Amino acid sequence: MKVLVTGAAGFIGSHVTLRLLERGDEVVGIDNLNDYYDVSLKEARLERIRESQGAECFSFEKLDVEDRQGMERLFSGQGFDRVVHLAAQAGVRYSIENPRAYIDSNIVGFLNILEGCRHHGVEHLVYASSSSVYGANETMPFSEHDNIDHPLSLYAATKKSNELMAHTYSHLYNLPTTGLRFFTVYGPWGRPDMALFLFTRAILEGRPIDVFNYGKHRRDFTYIDDIVEGVIRTLDKPADPNPAWTGKTPDPATSKAPWRVFNIGNQRPVELLTYIDCIEKALGKKAEMNLLPLQPGDVPDTYADVESLVEWVDYKPSVPVEEGVARFVQWYQTFYKS
Ligand SMILES: NC(=O)c1ccc[n+]([C@@H]2O[C@H](COP(=O)([O-])OP(=O)(O)OC[C@H]3O[C@@H](n4cnc5c(N)ncnc54)[C@H](O)[C@@H]3O)[C@@H](O)[C@H]2O)c1
Repeated sequence: MKVLVTGAAGFIGSHVTLRLLERGDEVVGIDNLNDYYDVSLKEARLERIRESQGAECFSFEKLDVEDRQGMERLFSGQGFDRVVHLAAQAGVRYSIENPRAYIDSNIVGFLNILEGCRHHGVEHLVYASSSSVYGANETMPFSEHDNIDHPLSLYAATKKSNELMAHTYSHLYNLPTTGLRFFTVYGPWGRPDMALFLFTRAILEGRPIDVFNYGKHRRDFTYIDDIVEGVIRTLDKPADPNPAWTGKTPDPATSKAPWRVFNIGNQRPVELLTYIDCIEKALGKKAEMNLLPLQPGDVPDTYADVESLVEWVDYKPSVPVEEGVARFVQWYQTFYKS
């Protein structure tokens, strides 16, 4: 298969790319290499891909998904079988200060992806949504069959918009699309703006860490390898219409069109203080904590119901948080020493 991976220099995109190459797919990666966080980490991830097994089937282009002409040229020149769209402006907190970055990358960019898929016969589009779409929902675990009409950040609103935009393309043009709602992904080569990275760095440097919501919120932390497995399995099974779907009692997770959305989480939420405890154990060093209130835009708890994905592709998250955190810490210490 020839697969386009957008956000290929990103945390999840680089891992997905490696897995596709490993199994013999051809991958075209794009990324605008923006400086939202350390660009040298993005370049190092690309270097890792170029040195990997299967690298001869990888090509990379620095390209912005907002660039309409660039995206049209890419799609018409390449003939992709399938697309994994992971490029986005990520992060909840940053969306409060920089709302426009989210509209540009996540809405305009997503339209360019949909148009490319529509006009060039792509068999299946898998794209990143987020657990943050659950916003003010409090029924736990979060289910795809519940409505998600109360986002708490613009980031969440753009991800929900992607699901809606995808639905119209699935309906109008019969384009199979699958949205994956990722739940706090962590692991080696992770993102410097996320808690695990920030905490590990601060603890090692002897600085205090900012612990929001007094460390009481729970997150369904999901290890990167489990996410990659779910992405690949989903990519291999194009969305199809749900024959039982009816407009009289519309199921929010499926459709008459070839459109699906799934949670992809660990189904084992962990309190932030427990997560910090895992980091301390892996580092052999105690954290000094600034206990602070919940940040605007953040949700108190996330907990994924993954039964639909289990049923769809036999998804089985397997890495416990203690082990995943230890693997991250080991990677961090090796990477930054070298
Ligand atoms: N990591 C998580 O916990 C998590 C949770 C929920 C959803 N997601 C979503 O998963 C996807 C991947 O996340 P990630 O953690 O790997 O983030 P990331 O920031 O590491 O990766 C995204 C990549 O996309 C690139 N990018 C951003 N805007 C672009 C644009 N306009 N054009 C081209 N490239 C662009 C960035 O340079 C980056 O390399 C994103 O859509 C994100 O919103 C991630």
